This record gives sequence, C-alpha cells and structure tokens, in this order.
Amino acid sequence: MVQSIPEITLNDGLSLPVIGLGTYKLKGNEGANSIVSAMESGYRLIDSAYNYENEGTIGESVRRSFVPREELIITSKLPGRYQNYEKAVTTIQESLYRANLDYYDLYLIHWPNPKQDTYVEAWQALIDAKKSGLIRSIGVCNFLPEHMERLEKETGVKPSINQIELHPFFNQATQRKWHVENNIATESWSPLARANQVLQNDSIQKIADHHNKSISQIILRWHYQLGAISIPKSSSPARQLENISIFDFSLNDTEMSMISGLTRPDGKINNQDPAIYEEF
Ligand SMILES: NC(=O)c1ccc[n+]([C@@H]2O[C@H](COP(=O)([O-])OP(=O)(O)OC[C@H]3O[C@@H](n4cnc5c(N)ncnc54)[C@H](OP(=O)(O)O)[C@@H]3O)[C@@H](O)[C@H]2O)c1
Repeated sequence: MVQSIPEITLNDGLSLPVIGLGTYKLKGNEGANSIVSAMESGYRLIDSAYNYENEGTIGESVRRSFVPREELIITSKLPGRYQNYEKAVTTIQESLYRANLDYYDLYLIHWPNPKQDTYVEAWQALIDAKKSGLIRSIGVCNFLPEHMERLEKETGVKPSINQIELHPFFNQATQRKWHVENNIATESWSPLARANQVLQNDSIQKIADHHNKSISQIILRWHYQLGAISIPKSSSPARQLENISIFDFSLNDTEMSMISGLTRPDGKINNQDPAIYEEF
C-alpha cells in the first residue's frame, strides 16, 4: 500500500516530504532493492552522501523505480576533504556522474569543519551550482547558528535546511528554536538514535501501547509534530512501511513533553560536537 506523506516548503520554495529514507550503508544491488521498495511504499525523499559511497546505488534505484524522477527529492552531501571552491565545484559534478543524474534536488555541506575554515567558499560553490541548474536547493548539516550566520553575511544566501542529529535522547531544543526564528528547516539524522536503547524505553512503550503503534512510530510522529523532517534508515520493506505509517494518530502535549524530556547532555550517539568535530 502506498502511503501519502505530508510535505513542507523550504525558504527557497522547494517542497519535500516530512519523512524520507536514510541510506547510510544501503549499497549495491541489495541496497538498490531496498531503496526501490521504499519508493514503492511511498518514500519520495532519499538522503545520501558522497561519503556513503552509494550515489551510484541511488541513481540505479531511481532508474529501477516506477516513480518519475520529478517526483523524487534526491539528496547528496559534500565531504570535508573537498571543502574549497574549486574542489566543491568538481565534487558536485562527480556526485552527479556517479548517480548518472542531471541534477540533485538537495545538496548539503556534510560538516562545517570549523578548524579547516573553508565552509564559506564551499557554500559559494553550492550557490553557483544552484544557479547553473545542477542543484535545486542548497543546505547544510551539523552547522551551528554562528556558522549559518556567517554564510548569510558573507554570501547573502542562507541554507534552506540544516540536517542535525536529533532523537529523543538529544532533542536539540535550542538549535530548533533558532531554525524556526531564521526560517531554516530542521532535518533529523539518526531519528531513531540508530535503534539504540531508545527503542526499549519503557515510557515510550507505554505511549506506543496506548496508540497501538510501535516505539519507532511514536518517535517518528514526535519528530513530525516538532516540525522536523526525519530520514529513518531501514533496509527492511516492512520497517520502511511502518516508519511512514504515522499520519493516522497524534501525540498530545503531555506525550510530546515526556518524549522531549528524555534528552540528556550526553545523549549524542557518538559525541560529535560540530564546534570541534571534523569529518573529511
Ligand atoms: N548528516 C550527517 O552527518 C548524518 C549522520 C548520520 C546519519 N545521516 C543520515 O541519516 C540517516 C538515518 O540515520 P541512521 O541510519 O544513522 O540511524 P536511524 O535511522 O536512527 O536508525 C537506523 C537503524 O534503525 C533500524 N530501524 C529502522 N526502522 C526500524 C523500526 N521500525 N524498528 C526497529 N528498528 C528500525 C535500522 O535497521 P534495519 O535497516 O535493519 O531496519 C537501523 O539499524 C542515515 O542513514 C543517513 O542518511 C546523516
């Protein structure tokens, strides 16, 4: 059964579904089969990255699927090692060649890498690629407010979206508030906290029992009601369908607060702090 997923519109006019498919570790023939099965269930937003080494698999899924290209929102990301103007220009082209696509719908800078301090020139390359039609919408991942303020101050263009670690153990309340105030969409990576202990949490289980839903569905509904776009990864067609079957119930304020209250200072999965962490 094909699920219909609500959409939101970004600050540059691109509309995209509020849930997409994460694809970290989905590669090769098996990965392509998984991604096609997700599209058959109703997924239209697909997340990937140069560093996942699966842009080829993503392109193959697009070609295998019955879904017209223009209905899909395909995302990739610029890695830290190519984060200067010239290398970013070439990498965007290489990302397209790998996927054998004419354009990406969304292209993001993967990490700010503030010590390297080249994210502004990389951003300029994304701006130019958008102008020349290679990308429809440009954004960032793991950027702090100070990084995004600099992008806008130095280039006049703010990101449409910031993809950040967000799950019940790390609810990002302050960063999300800043996004709302600045009209930048929040996209949640590891929305299920990579299926860690959060999927055994007793309090969320009680809410799940009350609604006759799974813990994963409760968590993904929580993301939706927070206003965040989530991109749960699953290789399993059954879990993919489960993860987008969340639009026939709602959480009340008490339930929302209870889930948000599970956050803790050390709740990040791998303790990656964008102020100092660098990824290449
Ligand atoms: N921008 C960044 O820096 C960044 C960083 C990390 C991730 N990401 C993106 O975000 C995506 C999602 O994050 P993630 O892959 O780290 O973690 P996640 O989506 O929170 O969790 C994925 C794990 O949950 C399992 N799972 C999925 N649905 C389930 C369900 N209904 N019940 C039980 N288990 C379930 C999956 O197993 P099965 O596959 O077996 O179902 C997998 O082990 C990534 O794939 C990637 O696209 C971006």
